[in-house]
Amino acid sequence: MASSLIFCLCSLVLAFVSAQPKRAFFIFGDSLVDSGNNDFLATTARADAPPYGIDYPTHRPTGRFSNGLNIPDLISEQLGLEPTLPYLSPLLVGKKLLNGANFASAGIGILNDTGFQFLHIIHIYKQLKLFEHYQERLSGHVGAQRAGEVVNRALVLITLGGNDFVNNYYLVPYSARSRQFSLPDYVRYIISEYRKVLRRMYDLGVRRVLVTGTGPMGCAPAELATRSRNGDCVVELQRAANLYNAQLVDMIKSLNREIGRDVFVAANAYQMHMDFISNPRAYGFVTSKVACCGQGPYNGVGLCTQLSNLCPDRDLYAFWDSFHPSEKASRIIVQQILRGSMEYMHPMNLSTIMALDTRT
Ligand SMILES: *[C@@H]1O[C@H](CO)[C@@H](O)[C@H](O)[C@H]1NC(C)=O
Ligand SMILES: *[C@@H]1O[C@H](CO)[C@@H](O)[C@H](O)[C@H]1NC(C)=O
Repeated sequence: MASSLIFCLCSLVLAFVSAQPKRAFFIFGDSLVDSGNNDFLATTARADAPPYGIDYPTHRPTGRFSNGLNIPDLISEQLGLEPTLPYLSPLLVGKKLLNGANFASAGIGILNDTGFQFLHIIHIYKQLKLFEHYQERLSGHVGAQRAGEVVNRALVLITLGGNDFVNNYYLVPYSARSRQFSLPDYVRYIISEYRKVLRRMYDLGVRRVLVTGTGPMGCAPAELATRSRNGDCVVELQRAANLYNAQLVDMIKSLNREIGRDVFVAANAYQMHMDFISNPRAYGFVTSKVACCGQGPYNGVGLCTQLSNLCPDRDLYAFWDSFHPSEKASRIIVQQILRGSMEYMHPMNLSTIMALDTRT
């Protein structure tokens, strides 16, 4: 009797759990999280030729700036979510819309003038416009109420800001923005613009957003090749990253206070990268200075193409190309996003978020 009651309860719980749809996942931002939108655009910021994708399951380029999977893929993998398609993919139709969508576009920044040299890319305000279109399409399939719930329950990732330095302020000596602003004033300006972007996302219905700060930009092989004399990380870019990241965390805290709940969660991408950059061997890398694919000093000059040097074992390199982490490095970063302490994830890590959100 008791056992059949327990059995009954268990099957009720199971039925409930399996009836719960998988959480949708939305991604916004730049090349660190673009899963192929730029393949559909007339832009020079693209990763659609070998050896990009060499370690992807299909061993073909997909538009991801990685040898294999990228950070959004690995988050989906860890959470057991369906992989998220690029919003511009013709495959993103029907029921697939329920899995979410990736709106990211390589080359973009917080500012509209960031990445202008790449021509047609999807600036962040445009990504948010596409997110509105997405919601209309989803409503068409499942009705407005269900669509609203999908967006409310979704997990969101946004990675933005690095290009406002490397592809804007520091793109050329005496850039327009660097003549207009001192570095601290520039950081204050882009953070105030970023706040509007995040507030808009909240107004569009999202309730859980992972916001990654910038990595240690001065340590990227591209910067070592062009600005570093002795192979040390470039001080000025590290200073920019530190100013930006500190103000980003403050801005997120203030936004959460304004909203009255922890919608936005800061991921300390700087520290996550610095761990393996300062001690590559402890993480199984032979180097954190030389990119796997590229040419010139540190393989940091120009693009990664079929003519570039290519390392035989990508898992031994922290950097895949002159700016982007290898799949192996991205795995280390995603582990910290999932389980990191407060130093890495503020105010909580993704495992805590998942536990909290399935309870309610
Ligand atoms: C970028 O352009 C859009 C559309 O013109 C505009 O609404 C937005 O305010 C601009 N952002 C900045 C930071 O100037
Ligand atoms: C992060 O996740 C782990 C569980 O994997 C947990 O034990 C830990 O306390 C969490 N840290 C924070 C700051 O939430």
